[in-house]
Amino acid sequence: MTSLPATGPLTTRQIGERAQAMVDALATVSADEGALTRLYLTPEHRRAAEMVSGWMDTAGLSARMDAAGTVRGALPPGAAGRNSNKVLLIGSHIDTVIDGGRFDGNLGVIAGILAVEQLKARGIALPFGLEVLAFGDEEGVRFPVTLTSSAVAAGVFDPNSLDVADAQGVTLREALVAFGGDPERLRQEAYQRPAVLGYLEVHIEQGPVLERAGEPLGVVSAIASQSRHRIRIRGEAGHAGTVPMEMRHDALAAAAEIILAVEAIARKGKKHALVATVGHVEVMPGASNVIPGDVRFSLDVRAATDDARKAAVEEITLFARRIDKRRQVVVGVETVMEKGVATCAPRLAKAIAAGVGAVQAKPARSLMSGAGHDGLSMAQLGDIGMIFVRCRAGISHNPNEWVSIDDMGAAVEALVATIEELARQERAGR
Ligand code: GLV
Ligand code: MN
Ligand code: MN
Repeated sequence: MTSLPATGPLTTRQIGERAQAMVDALATVSADEGALTRLYLTPEHRRAAEMVSGWMDTAGLSARMDAAGTVRGALPPGAAGRNSNKVLLIGSHIDTVIDGGRFDGNLGVIAGILAVEQLKARGIALPFGLEVLAFGDEEGVRFPVTLTSSAVAAGVFDPNSLDVADAQGVTLREALVAFGGDPERLRQEAYQRPAVLGYLEVHIEQGPVLERAGEPLGVVSAIASQSRHRIRIRGEAGHAGTVPMEMRHDALAAAAEIILAVEAIARKGKKHALVATVGHVEVMPGASNVIPGDVRFSLDVRAATDDARKAAVEEITLFARRIDKRRQVVVGVETVMEKGVATCAPRLAKAIAAGVGAVQAKPARSLMSGAGHDGLSMAQLGDIGMIFVRCRAGISHNPNEWVSIDDMGAAVEALVATIEELARQERAGR
């Protein structure tokens, strides 16, 4: 279903069915057969962006690709109002992790398009502009930096990041050019703060709370503080059969100690929802009969407060420095990404609660997001608000990720109702 026949007003169930068809169509665009892998600025990303762009056009949005590869679909204001020169942004991402699920990010982009479709089909004219954004780098899997596309939109992109490289040595700058983006125009793509009414995102919860509570939708209170680091340990490669144990400087054994310390330090921080993960390890030279001489690994740390996260990173770094001396290896810790807690704006959270209230019997529960989202960047531009959608068993970053058709329909209806609530507030001059 690359093309999307235009439609009129639909029931919640019909909207959910349309969302499912779109989710399934996007899931066919992958680097791997039989698995969903779609990394930033790859040919798959390009094909998915073109599919989304076609859907935006059908929904009546005028779509363009920005210099960072984000698809932006614009709907001009349909009615006069004091803020008719402002724009409400609605977005999420179309990149995935390796062998990921089909709803993470993709559902939020689709929900934005379907909400516009229903607003139009129901003859609802908004007293502000609206733009649907399909970001391409929320997962940060290809390059060591992440949230590139939303950072560009928010005007907080660090141009030094253009020089980071992927595992093949392709820099972000080169990848952008090959994709058809423009590294020289990134600054001009930033929205101007006074022109933005706010940023809304629909996203699957990626956790079990809503399912356990029997509630399809929730409202996000804040997105956790997050940082990513690269740790490198330089020891000494040597013969696995000849170097006595006490004379070794095994970089992998040192890494193993640090990785276990990461786990132990994070476990102490439950009160602050502290979590820390080492998800990628490279061992060099990587042969069974060679003592590892050089190890690089990733570190991802998150918490409900910036202080708790920073304290954990400091403790991990101190531990690594001590290993350094004891094992006579050289440990380097580099920070590649750092985002503070992004608190959702109370005015948008209230509008979302009203929107969710219009489609589900139970009042919208407030949830903290441990997962990172494009809202981390967009909060640096202006107010953000997020709607969480129940997913089965809280499973995400996994091909078994699943959301029901009815819940997808409800999420789009809640988004429509939230937009209508914001339009009412604008008309009332609040
Ligand atoms: C993305 O899903 C992240 O939370 O890292
Ligand atoms: Mn996501
Ligand atoms: Mn994700």
